[in-house]
Amino acid sequence: MTKSSVLLGVNIDHIAFIKKSRETSYPSLEQAVKICEQSGADSITIHLREDRRHIQDEDAKTIRGCCDKLNFEMANTDEMIAFALKLKPDFCCFVPEKRDEKTTEGGLALNELNKTDEKIFKENIEMLKSIGAEVSLFIDPNRESIEKSKYLGATSVELHTGQYAIDYELGNHEDEYNKLVDAANLANSLTLKVNAGHGLNYDNLGQILKLPHLNELNIGHAIIAESVFIGLDDAIKKIRRIIDNCD
Ligand code: PXP
Repeated sequence: MTKSSVLLGVNIDHIAFIKKSRETSYPSLEQAVKICEQSGADSITIHLREDRRHIQDEDAKTIRGCCDKLNFEMANTDEMIAFALKLKPDFCCFVPEKRDEKTTEGGLALNELNKTDEKIFKENIEMLKSIGAEVSLFIDPNRESIEKSKYLGATSVELHTGQYAIDYELGNHEDEYNKLVDAANLANSLTLKVNAGHGLNYDNLGQILKLPHLNELNIGHAIIAESVFIGLDDAIKKIRRIIDNCD
């Protein structure tokens, strides 16, 4: 077995959600970060949503203060750009955001941007790059979105694996998987780093790990769900073993 070099970002929004749901001081996000990092997470991912449904502004600052590498998921709004410039995450990932969605449904609609939106997007990406952040765009696996990501100045793309995860449950995921393969190849040929995430779990991860040029996976819900039964440390070690044992 060769050791995989794929990085693991652990999304801890669901832990922040438990804290927010009762307005308590626990569970400690600092403790969560420590356990994640000690158990094999290469970075911590958070998504500060406009509606503040899980992570709060203060949580984000606390996490930044105690984590090694922070991936900040954000909508492309003036408020979030200003917040990110102060927070100084290592990675920023632009995601679409709708108030009534359960989670991030679908990638960014980059092809709906008009010339003014494109200019603003480019300027915002440049601003984040100027504070040393790598900037990724969360996109569906198609050619247009990848070419547009390059045009806008992103350093990476995060391929949305949500449809793959749904199709996997139905036993019918080859078409979507092939789209991910093509997207990963194209992104790499344009010198974009290839990340992936959404809906990944202990069962459907194996094939995703065989994607070409894969740099990093971002996983949240499945890890936190498993941690209810086996603890956060073992839930992360379990997913890390799947990643590391992939040949
Ligand atoms: N990547 C991005 C950009 C996301 O928005 C999310 C969900 O917050 C994830 C990864 C993680 O998805 P999941 O919680 O389904 O593992």
